[in-house]
Amino acid sequence: MNQRPFDLNAIRADFPILQQQVKGKPLVYLDNAATSQKPQAVIDALSRYYSTVNSNVHRGAHTLADLATREFEGARETVQRFLNAQHSHEIIWTKGTTESINLVAHSYARAFLRAGDEILISAMEHHSNIVPWQLVAQQTCAKLKVIPVTENAELDLDAFDKLLTDKTRIVSLVHVSNALGTINPVKDIIDKAHAKGAVVMLDGAQSTPHWPVDVQALDCDFYAFSGHKVFGPTGTGVLYGKTRYLQAMQPYQAGGEMIEKVTFEKTTFNELPYKFEAGTPNIAGAIGLAAAIDYLNQFDRKQLAQHEHNLLQACLDRAADMKDIQLIGRAKNKAGVFSFLLKGAHPHDVGTLLDQQGVAVRTGHHCAMPIMDQFGIPGTVRASFAFYNTLEEVDHFFAALEKAKTFLL
Ligand code: ALA
Repeated sequence: MNQRPFDLNAIRADFPILQQQVKGKPLVYLDNAATSQKPQAVIDALSRYYSTVNSNVHRGAHTLADLATREFEGARETVQRFLNAQHSHEIIWTKGTTESINLVAHSYARAFLRAGDEILISAMEHHSNIVPWQLVAQQTCAKLKVIPVTENAELDLDAFDKLLTDKTRIVSLVHVSNALGTINPVKDIIDKAHAKGAVVMLDGAQSTPHWPVDVQALDCDFYAFSGHKVFGPTGTGVLYGKTRYLQAMQPYQAGGEMIEKVTFEKTTFNELPYKFEAGTPNIAGAIGLAAAIDYLNQFDRKQLAQHEHNLLQACLDRAADMKDIQLIGRAKNKAGVFSFLLKGAHPHDVGTLLDQQGVAVRTGHHCAMPIMDQFGIPGTVRASFAFYNTLEEVDHFFAALEKAKTFLL
């Protein structure tokens, strides 16, 4: 297939929202880790679906129901290829990474963990990869253990080696930290965990927007991501799971679609993947997510990742020359997340002053309170990049920061 050239002007023209002004200034959207913007192709896919296809899936005998079903299942196959999963039935639709992790916590961990078993997470997890495991640990009398994070915001791998034991049943880890940008060495961790007989779940919310993920090459057992962070619609997400685990698991949500036969005495469940998809799914969202993946697939994704890396490097270079800025997250291997503090200023005040200049960033604890506590800070200001951001926007961001400093410091 001929790949589309990396032409930033043409790419930006695909994203209508980027053409806007905010507070009378051109929008500089640097909150991509919270949610990324949608290309016209995704907006059009949603509009086309509702204008010409809308019907329920797997149910109706009529033409539109058949069309909706084929497009919905086609979207599943698009995701299968996106993750390089072996089978399309290993792709479960959810409403996001959070629901995907909860599904594994409820349907796998709660069923298979016993008192004294151990769950291993890390100190840099998002709350959605902490709290579900706390609940499971309470329910099963399993122990939750935490891999520490170094001052440089990297996993302490020596500590991991010690924490991983024959009692470890599940390792659940973020692939890329949303708060710090750290890219974790997940392949080594997976191999070591498997050697001890543990299953590995990865939170891929912040990796999938930036580079291709190959679940077979990683050999992870479960992988979760969110559609809205990969330029698709909100309320969409995916759980990938290896067939043998998904088959062994019971559903935790029940209703239509997930059953094979229901009587008042007994219900048998549908086959994979429908067993985990109770109720009418987000059909339009799945089709929109497939459109987002098709959009990404036009490009050489290595080029997109390199561009994002250049944007991050430009920020790091600018920060090195700037007074009163403290970088939070100095991992060697980092995705396009630039988390920082202006010394003496509250992150929210910095964010508000940036917003007044058209620059959108996220401020706060980024749903990762434990790592903020470890660094002894209330939160950070976080600029996070997508491939449609430009070096001019980095300049604008730093000019806006300098201006904010004149008010705050
Ligand atoms: N988890 C998302 C973020 O990091 C919402 O902003």
